[in-house]
Amino acid sequence: MTSPSPSASALGFPADFLWGASTSAFQVEGAAAEDGRGPSIWDTFCRLKGRVDNGDTGDVACDHYHRYGEDVALMKGLGVDAYRFSIAWPRLLPRGRGPVNPLGLDSYDRLIDRLLEAGIEPWACLYHWDLPQALQDQGGWANRDSAGWFADYAVLCAKRYGDRVKCWATFNEFSVFTLFGYALGWGAPSVADRGEHLKVIHDVNLAHGAGVDVLRDLVPSASIGAVHSYQPCRPEDDSPENVEGAALFNELWNLAFPDAQILGHYPPRIARAIEPYVQAGDMARIARPMDWFGLNHYAPLFAKADPSMVWGCGFGSPPADMPRTDIGWPLQPEAFREALLDLTARYRLPIYVTENGYGTKTLEAPDERGVVMDTARIDYLRACIAQMAEARRDGADVRGYFVWSLLDNFEWGAGYGTRFGIVHVDFATQTRTPKESARWYAALIGGALGRSGA
Ligand code: FCB
Repeated sequence: MTSPSPSASALGFPADFLWGASTSAFQVEGAAAEDGRGPSIWDTFCRLKGRVDNGDTGDVACDHYHRYGEDVALMKGLGVDAYRFSIAWPRLLPRGRGPVNPLGLDSYDRLIDRLLEAGIEPWACLYHWDLPQALQDQGGWANRDSAGWFADYAVLCAKRYGDRVKCWATFNEFSVFTLFGYALGWGAPSVADRGEHLKVIHDVNLAHGAGVDVLRDLVPSASIGAVHSYQPCRPEDDSPENVEGAALFNELWNLAFPDAQILGHYPPRIARAIEPYVQAGDMARIARPMDWFGLNHYAPLFAKADPSMVWGCGFGSPPADMPRTDIGWPLQPEAFREALLDLTARYRLPIYVTENGYGTKTLEAPDERGVVMDTARIDYLRACIAQMAEARRDGADVRGYFVWSLLDNFEWGAGYGTRFGIVHVDFATQTRTPKESARWYAALIGGALGRSGA
């Protein structure tokens, strides 16, 4: 047994604070070639030799496509108020646009209906890194037409699900999928080019704005947000070149998207470079009124000047004495409070923490009693949630928190070897086993699983 959790109310969270769990389509669904789904850029990337650890793919993942009923039941036991999932564009529109796949549409009806029956609010995200490959073949996000493609896809989702889904996010982590995909070359579609990256930043911002307009028009009383990765960015040391490198990296990682979308302009270091791609009226198309800011936070970011990178800056090392996870992520929960306060001051929107969690590559498996003792995850979640409570006391308008992730899943380039779930998945049998962190979280938020005494 781990130490008992205080209840959320004892920590000062109000009764209407929203507690949830997050996943994304490509990382959990599997059924990659089933019921008419088309390939996405990650299906392609997974097949490039040596790019994903162990040659893992999203073909089966957690088989959430079929096992959604069991997963909703797990969430009901946890006591979550909401489930944040993403819709797979290539499942609805196998070629990205044009013919609609009715079986794909049906699959999210089933999930949404099951969630509603369980009393769990569906939070749908339209894009979590899985662009249809057919659109990539037409230039992907580097084609300015992509905003229109995205708007058409958003229309389909809004019309079909808008009667039941009220909480919508346009995109997940704009900066991460654009940086990794177009500047660092570490993720799909594996490009490393500054000009392409700039073009993509702007096109994705345009797509976001178009998506917001669609949702606003078609979903009465929709609550619309966008999900940003925000990790306070610090220079590796105080040399002038690393301070400047970190300032530029901060703009690329933390500011390029929310500044454009909420403040209506690009941050100073990239504003000049992006000008050639900006047409008259674009910034007004991008900066649409938003209901909330979705924050994904994991750890502070250390950055430096790095001439080998297309932007001349890149990842630095955390101080040697800073604790880290076994996947190298710094452990500094105070950075979470800092992020919440920074964002409150800068953007003045209600915040939902749409992801926060702890990943490890250490083998976590049920012991002979079926217990998965993930103490380090509990410690980190507990510390982060305490920081969130403090940030609220200090004036941050935080209204909800979604743990990443409900399930161990496909962790992009790290494949299935890195686990973030509060529920263990045995990928050979698809058996789900709630870890101790799941029981801890349930106890915090008042779920039945937290009372089972195991
Ligand atoms: C975030 C992603 C999510 C997951 C976590 C660990 O950057 O949004 O898909 O991979 O990190």
